[in-house]
Amino acid sequence: MSKNLEELREKLESLLRKVDFTPVYWKDGKVVWLDVTLLPWEEVYRETRDVSRLAEAIKNLEIRGAPAIGVAAGLGVAMAVYNASGSVNELKSEGLKAVSILRSTRPTAYNLFYALDRMERVIRAYEGSSPSELKEEVLGEALSIMIEDLEANLKMGEIGSELITDGETVLTHCNTGSLATSGLGTALGIIKTAWRKGKSIRVIATETRPLLQGARLTAWELKKAGIPFKLVTDNMVGYLFYEGLVDRVIVGADRITIDGYVANKIGTYTIATVAWRHGKPFHVAAPTSTIHPVSYKEKKIVIEHRNPAEVTTILGRLEIAPKGTEALNPAFDVTPPELVTSIITEKGVAWPPYIDSLRRIIGSQ
Ligand code: MRU
Repeated sequence: MSKNLEELREKLESLLRKVDFTPVYWKDGKVVWLDVTLLPWEEVYRETRDVSRLAEAIKNLEIRGAPAIGVAAGLGVAMAVYNASGSVNELKSEGLKAVSILRSTRPTAYNLFYALDRMERVIRAYEGSSPSELKEEVLGEALSIMIEDLEANLKMGEIGSELITDGETVLTHCNTGSLATSGLGTALGIIKTAWRKGKSIRVIATETRPLLQGARLTAWELKKAGIPFKLVTDNMVGYLFYEGLVDRVIVGADRITIDGYVANKIGTYTIATVAWRHGKPFHVAAPTSTIHPVSYKEKKIVIEHRNPAEVTTILGRLEIAPKGTEALNPAFDVTPPELVTSIITEKGVAWPPYIDSLRRIIGSQ
């Protein structure tokens, strides 16, 4: 193993000791992940050497959450190259094939494309003739993406927790914790950090229909962390604000445009609108790998539409509508910048106008 790869592995190990757990990692040429579709009932880790199997795991949400998808995709490309045999050109072609398979898994999370673009660049830029050197370079890039995500989460936790006042009730949507990243989390990472710093906070977690990431995953993480919380159904949010039961909202993001439009789990726009109506802060927490450096007008955000059966059933287990009912199932919505109080990144907090603040933040990368 090269010195560089050894150093990256050591760095990763030391960062992983600072977080509760990671839902996705590299082990002896395989990608290993916690299958979150089985939570909170069972904790099952799965592993593969097969890129198509990994792509399926991302599509069916065994691995989900924008940063976790990006990290898994990076490791997936490394896996394809690492396990291939032959010349440098043959390895490169396996790597690029993996990039193309993984690109078509989910369309909205920018972290996926950010990670795959980086992997593709490293593969294409390699001009040497040593297959083992190429393998090390590609694995090194994937581990770097994971390291950077862990560092970003720890940094966002520090920065974002300063915005939370002692005694507040913070509402969050979907799952943005360790289960959605390489460890700790974004919005939920900030909440956990504030709690660990001794801030006496309470959390309201929305269940997040149709796939219940809030009820199944955020509740699981909050319980594990010992943070007091109440679970609510998504349609209770307006009432909670009306009664003055929410002080602040922190959510994650799947994609943020350079002018501050935020694509996140369906229902986020509704929460932002109600928070704005009641004059409560609405923060978005995301690493800079979630920021697509184009404006909303320049490139439309593609919203993933999933199988309507996710709406007409509860997790495919119980039919809740008459047979033949047609349903809509957009997985994300877009919150416009005027509803977003601030965007918390690992490089600092962006305030409106985002076209200036996000440009500054991205520029400082
Ligand atoms: O469909 P999912 O579960 O992948 O959606 C996840 C979200 O919308 C999260 O809020 C977002 O990815 C941020 S995770 C840190």
